[in-house]
Amino acid sequence: MYNSVNITKDICWVGVNDRQSRVFENLWPLDHGVAHNSYLIVDDKVALVDTAAEGQAGDFFRKVESIIGTEKEVDYLIVNHMEPDHSGLMKALLDRNPDMKIVGNKKTFGLIESFYGITSNLVEVKEGDEIQLGKHTLKFFMTPMVHWPETMVTYETHTKALFSGDAFGSFGSLDGGIFDDEVNLSFFEEEMRRYYSNIVGKYGAPVQRAINKLSSLDINYICSTHGPIWRTEPSRVISLYDKWSKQEGEEGAVIVYGTMYGNTAKMAELIAQSLSEQGIKNIKLYDSSKTHISYILRDIWKYNGLIIGSCAYNTNLFPPIEALTEKLKHVGLKNKSLGIFGTYSWSGGGVNNLQKFADEVKISPVAEPVEAKCATCDSDINGLKNLAQKMAESLKSDK
Ligand code: FEO
Repeated sequence: MYNSVNITKDICWVGVNDRQSRVFENLWPLDHGVAHNSYLIVDDKVALVDTAAEGQAGDFFRKVESIIGTEKEVDYLIVNHMEPDHSGLMKALLDRNPDMKIVGNKKTFGLIESFYGITSNLVEVKEGDEIQLGKHTLKFFMTPMVHWPETMVTYETHTKALFSGDAFGSFGSLDGGIFDDEVNLSFFEEEMRRYYSNIVGKYGAPVQRAINKLSSLDINYICSTHGPIWRTEPSRVISLYDKWSKQEGEEGAVIVYGTMYGNTAKMAELIAQSLSEQGIKNIKLYDSSKTHISYILRDIWKYNGLIIGSCAYNTNLFPPIEALTEKLKHVGLKNKSLGIFGTYSWSGGGVNNLQKFADEVKISPVAEPVEAKCATCDSDINGLKNLAQKMAESLKSDK
């Protein structure tokens, strides 16, 4: 049972940790849980910034009531984001606080009605509008598509706290500390990049627009809906998001393959070994049948090289590789050095579909694709070594 935590004298974290769910959005693995953060600002008026998921009512209301009791009402619910992991307790909160105003923008209200049937108590805010709570002032900025069309962020001008919604969020529950200086940042940087690539990755351009829009704000705290609160070095997390939203990777390569009987896997290993001989140290080699796409995406976002291999499967790509390439098309993969290879036995379908994928994401492979018939022969081995050499040259030239 976790207590609320003060961020400033009057702003409290009243978030909840979910260590029970196996997946996020019923899709993405939660090996280390996830925090759904909500924030309570207590002044002449009381404001809550977002809520939590529907099933988290007990922990959430216990925390809120530990601060304001059961007599004092919440005056405002600020809805930065409508996804139900943050809006799930809106109706229950309104039932407890019937005079509470629900603050959102025009796009928020359609979703509120559709999800929860709420059509009253709504207060619309536009870009730059302010709400005075007492000494705290909330100022609103629209950040559409970070992560849904209605998303906005709220800046509290007295404490310079930015309530950023999903932006700067991370997988991983808050296991003790809640601030960046209290947690293992290496762990959270990995989980944050996994969150970014899995959840927000498609919206690089809106993230760039949001970063530019907020660049003039003086920020002491970044309070996201997931993960730690950034108070020591908020600029660090902004620069990470800047890099990821531009898909700027560091020197290294992800090699991911689909194999039925191990022949495509052997080709992947040969490429990895050749890349290493060329001086590339960051190499991640994944069997797509074993490793969840969530982690493969996380590392694709980290490195500037991507090499994909597939056996032919019923004249098409091997299914997990097909799923990966579809996802990469969906998120608009760019800024990568790309290599492709694969195997076939009685028909093609692996390499030719990888070539189609390369055409669709508009990235020319660094070398001729290598396609082995059943198992590699000498000429295939030379082709794979050539692919690795061209890839290494391309990765190094990105510096
Ligand atoms: Fe954490 Fe887009 O919801």
